[in-house]
Amino acid sequence: MKVLVKDQIINSADANVSISDRGYQFGDGIYEVIRVLNGKLFTEKEHMDRFYSSAEKMDLVMPYDREKLTTLIYDLIKANNVVDGHVYFQLTRGVQEPRNHAFPDNVEAVLTGHTKIYKRDLAMLEEGVSTVTADDVRWLRCDIKTLNLIGNCMAKTKAAKVGAEEAILHRDGLVTECSASTLLIVKDGVVKTHPLTNLVLPGITRMVIMDAIADANIPVKEEAFMLDELFQADEAILASTGHDATPIIEIDGKPVGNGKRGPITAEIQRRYDLRIE
Ligand code: PDD
Repeated sequence: MKVLVKDQIINSADANVSISDRGYQFGDGIYEVIRVLNGKLFTEKEHMDRFYSSAEKMDLVMPYDREKLTTLIYDLIKANNVVDGHVYFQLTRGVQEPRNHAFPDNVEAVLTGHTKIYKRDLAMLEEGVSTVTADDVRWLRCDIKTLNLIGNCMAKTKAAKVGAEEAILHRDGLVTECSASTLLIVKDGVVKTHPLTNLVLPGITRMVIMDAIADANIPVKEEAFMLDELFQADEAILASTGHDATPIIEIDGKPVGNGKRGPITAEIQRRYDLRIE
């Protein structure tokens, strides 16, 4: 397998990073995961916009301009013959010795990336997944796509231990998002999702779904809601680069609606698919 290290595509066996890299020591960096469908980067512009915006929010200096970065990402997916799958890339603040919490000056940020090959999971998109609820113990800048993911990892592990696909996070009962995806619910024909604040990641899949909802004239409210509203929802949707718009059919062992994919979820999925070239 080929990987990206700085601006070179090399064999993964030849890749190495310094133990003094701030990404390794502090989780000081940012990342993106872009879906590859039919050999093309799905919603490439939106992901690149978010990558640059995360960098700005963290005072990270991009070592390459956008055109060069996009070329490197395409070179990587071509080198690994990825037709369907995803590409992961991250940028750390770079190598600093000795270790010091404060951001250093004049250190070159380190870009790395790899790919994964997989087809869309059509059975999951139809049959849905189960979830559990978990405390949202993350920090207060969840709008940045940082490498610091331990709060997310702890919640996802809680889900994995009971065979659930995802953990739905809440802060004292106020639902935010999932450990690695956006959450939307439907009640009486109205879609609801947390507004884009510091408590959630501005999901690209969320953006595609919002476009689909607008096109279909489905009413939508970007409003926070509590756990009781979640448990009374007719439909719930888990949205991310890897999941597209996946129906949630169970939360903490209780069925969502009738425990099957609902009509609004199916309509969103139909319109989502139209975006794929
Ligand atoms: N996760 N919220 C969180 C906390 C996420 O980590 C993600 C994505 C999303 C959905 O974002 P998008 O639609 O842009 O993928 C929401 C990625 C896939 C990951 O960490 O692997």
